[in-house]
Formats: sequence, C-alpha cells, structure tokens
Amino acid sequence: MTDDLFAPLSIRGTEIRNRVMVSPMCQYSCERDGLATDWHETHLGSRATGGAGIVMTEATAVEPRGRISPNDLGIWSDDHADALAPVADFVSERGATPAIQLAHAGRKASKTPPWDGSEPLQPDEGGWETVAPSAEPYPYADDEPPRTARMDEDDIEAVVDAFVAGAERALDAGFEIAEVHAAHGYLLHEFLSPVTNHRDDEYGGDFESRTRLVREITAAVREVWPGDKPVFVRVSATDWLPDRESWTVEDTAELAPLLAEAGADLVDVSSGGIHPDQRVPDAGANYQVPYAERVGEATEALVGAVGGITEPKQADALIRNDRADLAIVGREHLRDPYFALHAAEELGADERVEWPIQYRRAVGK
Ligand code: FNR
Repeated sequence: MTDDLFAPLSIRGTEIRNRVMVSPMCQYSCERDGLATDWHETHLGSRATGGAGIVMTEATAVEPRGRISPNDLGIWSDDHADALAPVADFVSERGATPAIQLAHAGRKASKTPPWDGSEPLQPDEGGWETVAPSAEPYPYADDEPPRTARMDEDDIEAVVDAFVAGAERALDAGFEIAEVHAAHGYLLHEFLSPVTNHRDDEYGGDFESRTRLVREITAAVREVWPGDKPVFVRVSATDWLPDRESWTVEDTAELAPLLAEAGADLVDVSSGGIHPDQRVPDAGANYQVPYAERVGEATEALVGAVGGITEPKQADALIRNDRADLAIVGREHLRDPYFALHAAEELGADERVEWPIQYRRAVGK
C-alpha cells in the first residue's frame, strides 16, 4: 500500500505517528543564557497537541558563541537539559516525537532578534567574537560584523566535543531525535562551502576535506545516540551562487551517502544562507523538493522535504508520490499550530489522528 501523510514511520525502532514534522524555528525567547522558558514549552507543546508527528526545537546552540542571538536556546550545560526536559516530556505525552536541532551559528552568530533588525552585535553591545573556518566575517550589507576568528585544530576538536556533549544532554532531557544543523550558512555549512572555507589543512580544500567536519560530527553524535533512535542532518542543498565556486546540488548528492555511512538516518534538505549575494529564483510552493528528490536518488537514507509546504493535499502528495519521507512544515505551523489535525480533517483521515479529549466537543467527537 502506498504510504500517505498519516502513515506512521518507523526509524530504528522509533515509531513516529505520521509524516508531518514541525521545522526547527528560532523563537528568540530565552530570557537568560540559552535556558528554555514557558514560551518554548507552550509553543512546541501546542504543535504536539496539534497532531504533528515530530516536533523539533529551534537551532539549539552547543556552545554559547554558537547562538545566533543572545536569546537562542542552548544545550551546553546540565541546567539547559533540565530546562528542556519538561518541553520534551510534554511533547512526548501529547504523542509526538520530540526532536532537537543541535547547532552552531559560526560567523552568523551574535545578532539581534529579527524584530530588532537581525543586526550584528559587537562585544560591547552584548555580542561576541564569532568563529568560522576562515577569518572572514559575514559580509552584512550595512552593518559592521563582529570580528571572526579562524578556528584552529583545538577549536575544531572542542566543537566536535560540544556537539557530542549536547547530544548526551539532549538524550538526558528526553529527546528522541537529534538533528545536526549543517545548513543555512551556519558553522558546518561554512566548512562545506568553498565560498566560506579557505583553509588548506585537512578541514579545507577539496571535497573530502571540506566535508570532514560534518562527517565527523555526524559520526560522533551517532556514537552517543542510542541505536534505536534516529539522527537527522539538515543540509543546504545549494548555495544559490551559480556565478562562483560554491556548494551545489551535486555536492549534496555526493555528501548524502557519506552522511548515511556516518550514521544519519534522514537528510533534511533545505538550501541557501551562505552569502547575501544568493539569488533564489522562486521560493514558492515545494521549491526545495526537487533537491530532496535528487538526494533521495543518491542515498539509502530517508529524506525530508521542506520549504513552501502549506497545504494538506500538497504535503500528502509528497509522501504518496514518494518524493520525500517527511513533509517538514515551518511557517504554516506558526499560522496554524493544529496543521496536522486540520490536514487529517481535509484529507478524510480523521480516524487516524486524535484530537485532545479536552477539545473533542468542538469537533463533533
Ligand atoms: C526558520 N528556519 C530555521 N531553520 C533551521 O534549520 N533552524 C532554525 O532554528 C530556523 N529558524 C527559523 C525561524 C523562523 C521564524 C522561520 C520562519 C524559519 C527555517 C525553517 O525551518 C524552514 O526551513 C523555512 O521556514 C522554510 O519552510 P516553510 O516556512 O516554507 O515551511
């Protein structure tokens, strides 16, 4: 039988109730040092109550300088795990699979939240010096970036260790899926792309060297993540910079099987973010799905499609037509926390989802 949006998905013995995932989305809502607040519990808890199969946290920094803004979530101490535990617990209790995106923002760290302009913050404004494969700051159009330091081998080792420690803490907090964030121009993507990686050591230069860090981190996270729980990796399939040497869809197709070999169960296929010159011709419905399909051809790993998925029939068709294994929904989940429950109604799959008992009188059950 053909799988559809409400077909359960089993990965390594972890049972996911359907194919809808809440895409990781920064909330810029920590009040103190990367610690989760009631906002995170309510926000992610609502989407679990809304029927999604997987509810993923925002980019959660594995070290303080890996935060995009001072208000991002972190997982660099046991206090962070303690603050996230009730979030993971509530998501599980609501029947969704709790997932965490482990992240480091690299040279795109140290910025204000979007409602304050996403402007770079200097150290004397509450920001910090950023780190990257090369000592080249992000080229903001109008603003002076904070200084960017080139990572030496000790820094690289420390970041690998920080991803591992973050994964261990996330597991203690109750998360069941760990996603390594290697997309959107943040640290791991900066190592992958020749636009930002100008090293000539074993972490830069040719394809093998540029991909080394993400392969090492994926393998290291896999090693501490239990055998019955999934590891995902989010990639930018293309830099959208065809006029220069850059990361391309074919590079991603070459990387995907190596990620699978390193222990990734699913590649979450996004795009862009490395440089302000990028030109995305059309960021409309399903705009990144062809890249997910290309990755799916290249690897045995499962594939997630994200970007411009807003309609139940559209999400269902992605699964039915075998274009992706997961429909990852971002902004539509900000508009409608109950996207999955509403999708089930529209697709005639009501019997396969459960409205919270507290709400049933509103839906004729
Ligand atoms: C995002 N996105 C994002 N991506 C990611 O990998 N980690 C993150 O923390 C964030 N944060 C974030 C915040 C907000 C407010 C938005 C709108 C987006 C990107 C997001 O996960 C998704 O890939 C894109 O929004 C495209 O999907 P939609 O929104 O078209 O479904």
